[in-house]
Amino acid sequence: MGQDSLVVAVVGATGAVGREMLKTLEQRNFPATRVRALASARSAGSVVPYMDGELTVEELTTDSFKGTDLALFSAGGSTSEKFAPYAVNAGCVVVDNSSAWRMDERCPLVVPEVNPHALERHKGIIANPNCSTIQMLVVLKPLHDAAGIKRVVVSTYQAVSGTGQKAIDELDRQVRQMFNMQEPEVSVYPYRIAFNCLPQIDVFLDNDYTKEEMKMVNETVKILEDPTVRVTATTVRVPVFYGHSESINIETAKKLTAAEARAVLSKAPGVVVYDNPSLKYYPMAIDAAGEDEVFVGRIREDETIDNGLNLWVVADNIRKGAALNAVQIAELLVEKNLLSVKEPDLFLR
Ligand code: A2P
Repeated sequence: MGQDSLVVAVVGATGAVGREMLKTLEQRNFPATRVRALASARSAGSVVPYMDGELTVEELTTDSFKGTDLALFSAGGSTSEKFAPYAVNAGCVVVDNSSAWRMDERCPLVVPEVNPHALERHKGIIANPNCSTIQMLVVLKPLHDAAGIKRVVVSTYQAVSGTGQKAIDELDRQVRQMFNMQEPEVSVYPYRIAFNCLPQIDVFLDNDYTKEEMKMVNETVKILEDPTVRVTATTVRVPVFYGHSESINIETAKKLTAAEARAVLSKAPGVVVYDNPSLKYYPMAIDAAGEDEVFVGRIREDETIDNGLNLWVVADNIRKGAALNAVQIAELLVEKNLLSVKEPDLFLR
């Protein structure tokens, strides 16, 4: 490689997150000498916007990565599972947005504001955490450092864009159908999402939690490198296009007043405190959409326990929850000179 030549591929470039990755690379002047757009055979030959022009989409194959230094994957778990090992085998470092590699011990799971040091031990694949986990931990890490978080109770209100372009289209279509007195078509989710809330994100597991809920539990422990932090989650899909909201209750070892928590968070990287009840200032999905920061408000002491706080946390799930976090990881890889693979066949074995 060498910083004078840096070829970057976006895998899943036609999707909601892939398009945002291209936009984010452009907006942040990522030092790529060439950017490639990859997707399935269905969209090979089509174009996606990039800079002042467009990129022609190439079909993703196991041979796609020769001469490519870095690949940002957002094409679903099965695609990452199959193709990321071939990318690494071609000497290409992968930042993967799916859940395929997140709990693999060989793969660091990174939120740049929280655990950038984990990147140093990457072996070719770096996992981008779940969108809901990312925004929660950007806010909880500084509070954990200040007061020691013992327990987290989180409920999410997640936008449909987290499911991808098809779900964005489904909410849009259902709303139109209902205003036209037609029966709404249901295909992406198990039930109608328009004017409804679905307390199911991803599939149910043996313990009756959903996979999304257990991602928040397990990813938090891996990222904080602290198994003493106990997390319980309820994840809910709501009829919002962009922006996940979270109600978070924490119990800490040390007392932190609401004012102290506000002071800690106002200095935290990537966090904006937007919290003034008398002026009705609190974060909302409509304001967070399109923004890079994680917004926190409604900061209150939990009056039912000695050391507890309630928080309301909102972020753009496609940006900080996915594309931006991946590009920030890529920036750190460049900055720390970590774009190399020592054991190319590690993930093919
Ligand atoms: P395609 O448009 O060719 O289907 P979203 O999350 O918005 O649904 O987007 C998913 C992205 O992943 C799209 O770019 C999609 O490409 C891509 N994708 C899905 N399956 C594959 C696959 N088997 N190989 C390559 N890209 C895939």
